[in-house]
Amino acid sequence: MSKQDRLIIFDTTLRDGEQSPGASMNREEKVRIAKALERMRVDVIEAGFPIASPGDFEAVQAVARTIKESTVCGLARALDRDIDRAGEALKEASSARIHTFIATSPIHMEKKLRMTPDQVVEQAVHAVKRARKYTDNVEFSPEDAGRSEIEFLCRVLEAVIDAGAGTVNIPDTVGYNIPHQFGDLIRILIERVPNADKAVFSVHCHNDLGLATANSLSAVRNGARQVECTINGLGERAGNAALEEVVMAVRTRQDLFACDSNLDTTQIVTCSRLVSGITGFPVQPNKAIVGANAFAHESGIHQDGVLKSRETYEIMRAEDVGWTQNRMVLGKHSGRNAFRSRLAELGTVFESEEDLNAAFARFKDLADKKHEIFDEDLQALVTDTTLEAHDRIKLVSMRVCSETGEVPSADVVLSVDSVEQPATAVGSGPVDATFKAIESIVSSGTQLKLYSVNSITGGTDAQGEVTVRLEKGGRIVNGQGADTDIVIASAKAYINACNKIIQPQLKAHPQKGDV
Ligand code: KIV
Ligand code: ZN
Repeated sequence: MSKQDRLIIFDTTLRDGEQSPGASMNREEKVRIAKALERMRVDVIEAGFPIASPGDFEAVQAVARTIKESTVCGLARALDRDIDRAGEALKEASSARIHTFIATSPIHMEKKLRMTPDQVVEQAVHAVKRARKYTDNVEFSPEDAGRSEIEFLCRVLEAVIDAGAGTVNIPDTVGYNIPHQFGDLIRILIERVPNADKAVFSVHCHNDLGLATANSLSAVRNGARQVECTINGLGERAGNAALEEVVMAVRTRQDLFACDSNLDTTQIVTCSRLVSGITGFPVQPNKAIVGANAFAHESGIHQDGVLKSRETYEIMRAEDVGWTQNRMVLGKHSGRNAFRSRLAELGTVFESEEDLNAAFARFKDLADKKHEIFDEDLQALVTDTTLEAHDRIKLVSMRVCSETGEVPSADVVLSVDSVEQPATAVGSGPVDATFKAIESIVSSGTQLKLYSVNSITGGTDAQGEVTVRLEKGGRIVNGQGADTDIVIASAKAYINACNKIIQPQLKAHPQKGDV
């Protein structure tokens, strides 16, 4: 495929995705997701905002060290200290990109930056030149481009391309744009910026009006050749354009697009599950491409049509995005090698024998309770094991009592920093009693904001996957847990969220406040 035909996929799940309240990820989690993105052949992985905190710096550094096939990118405001930190974090990357940005809309320049347009142009040019000292691969974004004046955007873009930006990214930061208008904006910019041919035009759309994918596609029709997106559409507020939607729309409608991505789309569902498991953001069943119902044909008429000829109602093949039939992959008698190799096929490679042993022990426990183990069970099990590995609070044992006419109660034993602590509590139901017992040990002082249960596969012996969202002083965390017993899954999810909330988080937001 020539460069002109190639649509570059820039995934920002680890940066903009992480800006969703409660979606913050640690270093190991980011590396796991980055590896899955690399396997999917994502071109650029934005791994984080290195100056935000030492943890963010280390996470970007770890992704940069690990990833060999994709370009690893770090975000930096148009400030020397941000750019130097990003350059440092990306030092060991096989291919590194620095993404620097400054706002260009009248409202942002006046109210947020308190800078004149001339000062903004000067700072943008300075930032690009500084970033070029670390890498030849520099991207510049005029933040809030969707509400900026076209003439001014042209001026900024011409200046940053001259200064050495090879990619210019047009963000609809607040999700305000409408498809035909956003497409026109991209076309006009490409026509009017005199040196437009020296850079790739990119777009970054937010979903506040539910138009992020539509706006991105309209931009591609009008010449954009990079789309910034996230798995499951995760991201600030209503999220970003969903990678799976953009990629599959372009692939499915090749009659309308003069370009295509290089993605291995069969990895999409695996990536979606991984991101959902790690962040604790469940995927709604009717979500395009990756929702559980996206390829389910419930009504008799549809089923009949699909049985006669798939194309009557299917515009894509489920297997092309990685949906496999729920099939029994492993059972009680499967050995470690079968377990290891099936997980490798699903994209999980254990870093050490110890990690493999821990996951395998859990698998044996699960196989005792559940006859058929599906791919979905294996993925939940690995996420659970990895989440727990470094936890300070662990579930040792629990017993709940729930009986008609009686008040439900729970006895829980937790290990907190390796010291076992028991507690008993009553509640309006077994889950309520369990959470109260846990809370009486950990005293997290949090408020429960969301509790949801989903079944991972079908059948009454399926594992339940529980998501718990806790809030404390404005900070939100999500916890997840899976088990064939949904009260135990609930306890695991609550404990997972507590482990996150007790970790200090002094992390700066790239688009708000100072570092
Ligand atoms: O939405 C936005 O404008 C951003 C920029 C940092 C590119 O995320
Ligand atoms: Zn954004």
